[in-house]
Amino acid sequence: MGLLLPFYCCYLYLTSQYFPIIMWHKEVVIMLKLIFHGHACFSITDGTYNLIIDPFLKGNPLADVQAQEVNPTHILLTHGHADHLGDALEIAARTAALIIAPNELALYLGHKGVKTVAMHIGGSRRFPFGRIKLTPAWHSSAIIQGQEIIYTGAPCGYLIEIQDETIYHAGDTGLFGDMQLIGARSQLDLALLPIGDNYVMGPEDALIAAEMLGAKVTIPMHYDTFPLIEQDPYLFVDNLSKKGLKGQVLKPGQEYVIKD
Ligand code: NI
Ligand code: MN
Repeated sequence: MGLLLPFYCCYLYLTSQYFPIIMWHKEVVIMLKLIFHGHACFSITDGTYNLIIDPFLKGNPLADVQAQEVNPTHILLTHGHADHLGDALEIAARTAALIIAPNELALYLGHKGVKTVAMHIGGSRRFPFGRIKLTPAWHSSAIIQGQEIIYTGAPCGYLIEIQDETIYHAGDTGLFGDMQLIGARSQLDLALLPIGDNYVMGPEDALIAAEMLGAKVTIPMHYDTFPLIEQDPYLFVDNLSKKGLKGQVLKPGQEYVIKD
C-alpha cells in the first residue's frame, strides 16, 4: 500500500488538474447549430446557450415545436408584431430566459415582469454566449390588441457573433442600401432574409440584399406562413446561385450545422 500511495496521489492529481482542462477544450469546440421553426423564428445553440429569435410558435402553422417545448437562455426580439413577439412572454416567464429587444419593446415587456435587456440600433453588447449588435430594419413595431395599437419603438435586425461565427437576422424589413455597409463591416457566415413580400422584402429585393451582404450562406425566411406571403424559396436559392451566392432552404424543424 505504501508503495502504491505515490501513484494513487499522482492519479488524483492528474484527474483533478488535467481532466477538467481537457473537458473545457471540448466545450469550446462544441457544435454550433441553427434550427428553423417556421416564419422568422430560429434557434441557435452552442451546447451551453440556447438563443431563440422571434418565437412565434402558437398560431404559427409552420412551427415544428410548441412554446412549452423550447428552453432558451436568451430570447431575441426584432419587433412587437404578433408574428415575432409570439410566445416570448410565456417562454420567458417559464424559463427565466433573458429577453433582448429594442428599447421600448424591452420596457413594455419588463413591466410584465420578465427579465429584459434594452438595446437600440447601432448598439452592441457582450453576453456570455457572444456579442449582439442591433441593425436597422425598415418596418414598424407595435403590439395590437383589438382596436388598440401600442407602438413599441423601432424594429431591428440582429448581428449575432457566437463562436467566431457571425449570423445576420434581418428582422422584418424592406431592402435598404446600408445592407452594403453591414456586409462590408462584417464577414457574414449566415444571412437570414425575409422573402415573403407584402410586409417585407420580396424575393427580387432579397436577392439584391443577399448580394450586398455577401454572406457565405443565405437562408430565406418569412414566407409560406399565410397565403399572402407564399413564395418559392427554391427559386430564390436558384437565383442566388446564378449570382454566385450560396443559399439554403430550411424546412421547419430542420437543423443547419454552422460549425461542428
Ligand atoms: Ni412585422
Ligand atoms: Mn412579420
